[in-house]
Amino acid sequence: MPGRPWFLRNQVEAATRDVRENESPKNKLIIVLGWAGLVKRGDNDAMLRDKNLVPLSHQHQHALALCVRIDRTLNHGSGELETWQAEVERQFHDEIRYHFEVEEKYLFPQALLFPELAGLVDELVREHNSLRRAFERARTRTMDSADLQRFVVALSEHIRKEERQLFEGLQQRLSEEELRMLGTQIEDYFRNSGMPGATCAAPIPRTPE
Ligand SMILES: [Fe+2]
Ligand SMILES: [Fe+2]
Repeated sequence: MPGRPWFLRNQVEAATRDVRENESPKNKLIIVLGWAGLVKRGDNDAMLRDKNLVPLSHQHQHALALCVRIDRTLNHGSGELETWQAEVERQFHDEIRYHFEVEEKYLFPQALLFPELAGLVDELVREHNSLRRAFERARTRTMDSADLQRFVVALSEHIRKEERQLFEGLQQRLSEEELRMLGTQIEDYFRNSGMPGATCAAPIPRTPE
């Protein structure tokens, strides 16, 4: 499809890869970025993701996998709008709405402590609001295929921006102790959120010292 983002190509298998297999000895986990297309060919193949942010990166994987599946179906002209809108609604209800709330409640305020990240946070907040409107349109089954395609691009680009700029920016600026506290807040939020499967879906891997 013309204009189809390069980072959605051929990512289904990689999108389901479990990054927990890639523990490194330095309290970091390696996220293999092929799944998200977060680096272009020729860039480094992997980015170190702090273990405290890994649950959110796992959720990014889930959302990107949905985007890839929708994009492939629409690309072949066999999309079933009703089915995909129901799936988009389900994924928002079961996971993404909690993910957005964690970012807004904990990550964005942390980033706002650094003036150079304020513009980025402003963009991400506006994108959350726009994406929430799109999720609402899916819930009311009022999207056409062009809307769905725009939604896939917007959600994928939002995730790519967070992984490359927000998560990386926080990792570079926060101390290990601050990251650990952030990880604890995220873990506690999910445990008490009522999110389906939260107690086993978003564990923070504990790498041996
Ligand atoms: Fe976000
Ligand atoms: Fe996110």
